[in-house]
Amino acid sequence: MSGALLASTVLPLGAKDSKEALQPPSKRVEKNNSPLVSLSDYELQAREELPHMAYEYIACGAGDEITLRWNREALDAIRLNPRVLVDVERIDTSLTLFGQKHRFPLLLAPTAFHRLAHREGEVETAKGASAAQVTFVVSSLSTRRLSDIAGATTQPIWFQFFTLQKERRAFVKDVLQEVKANGCRALVVTVDAPVTGARNRSERARFQLPDDFDTPYYPDRAGRKQSGGLPISGSLVWEDVEWLRSVTDLPILLKGILNPDDAKQAARVGISGIIVSNHGGRELDSVPASISALPRIVDAVENKVPILMDSGVRRGTDILKALALGAKAVLIGRPYLYGLACGGAAGVSNVTDILRKEFDMAMILTGRRTLREIDRSVLF
Ligand code: FNR
Repeated sequence: MSGALLASTVLPLGAKDSKEALQPPSKRVEKNNSPLVSLSDYELQAREELPHMAYEYIACGAGDEITLRWNREALDAIRLNPRVLVDVERIDTSLTLFGQKHRFPLLLAPTAFHRLAHREGEVETAKGASAAQVTFVVSSLSTRRLSDIAGATTQPIWFQFFTLQKERRAFVKDVLQEVKANGCRALVVTVDAPVTGARNRSERARFQLPDDFDTPYYPDRAGRKQSGGLPISGSLVWEDVEWLRSVTDLPILLKGILNPDDAKQAARVGISGIIVSNHGGRELDSVPASISALPRIVDAVENKVPILMDSGVRRGTDILKALALGAKAVLIGRPYLYGLACGGAAGVSNVTDILRKEFDMAMILTGRRTLREIDRSVLF
């Protein structure tokens, strides 16, 4: 494309000239004179940077980590089927979800206790999300308050709940006020964690939440102590979700759905979105990889609500595969925590930038110019 055309063309958010797409991501994080260039580089480096207990807590899966392994194996096993001789001078990776424009189909999944990875915790993550222009879903196990987090990012944030039971509702209503006051755009209810999975590696490392960590949206320290510092959200039921719908106008997504019957029910009761997730293999071991469960959920829901997916996404090609199987967007958990540990906000934004650049490349190299063009025909 000529320079003149480039200069005179105003590209919408997410649309780009392919040369721009292939620029190296900004703000590289270097360790031992070598840049961290992939998400697995970040993981290896984070293992060095983090205290053993924190690394084990973040990296571990449940039980024998069968599902954790499957998350990667199932994505790795999917092959691509590129088209060539397509004009890919310009691509557009942007999408709109619940009226909110996203630069590319990636969000930061809700993860607990960011102060384990950085002394500024979720505030630092929010700065990274801001630089990378991605939406950060703040966990109810956040170690910082929403007002501080929202103040650190120009990007929209979402908020995630674990507990909504009757005895908690007065507290949830207070949190909802804070959520509204800080401009959160959507709510995520995590439905796959009535108890914490069998996290043996974390237990062996004697994971305990440091006493000086405040968790303003999960104040039940006594309950947390009993479970080695981890939350027990108790059994949530459909009625709890319906109650939440009755007290907020915000879009509500259910996170942790793997069964098409649950997906159908979610669509029936007016849930705004579904996140197909096995919690990064941290809850029930032996459930399928999220990418394996995804097509059945997509078929069951018949486009009634948008479907997102997480668990195991580590490459731009993984995002392409998830979109090909019907996801509108994906989320990452551990990788941005490793970014946070290695480089603070710059690490978070660099991890996101690496994925964005890889996703751009994957689109260009498969001959897909828009997200709409990514369908099952891109799979071999
Ligand atoms: C999580 N996850 C999670 N989910 C949630 O809804 N609320 C939470 O507080 C947490 N906390 C949490 C802590 C840590 C350390 C991890 C690794 C994960 C699950 C998270 O949202 C997401 O589903 C997975 O992390 C996705 O898998 P990957 O990207 O880590 O493979």
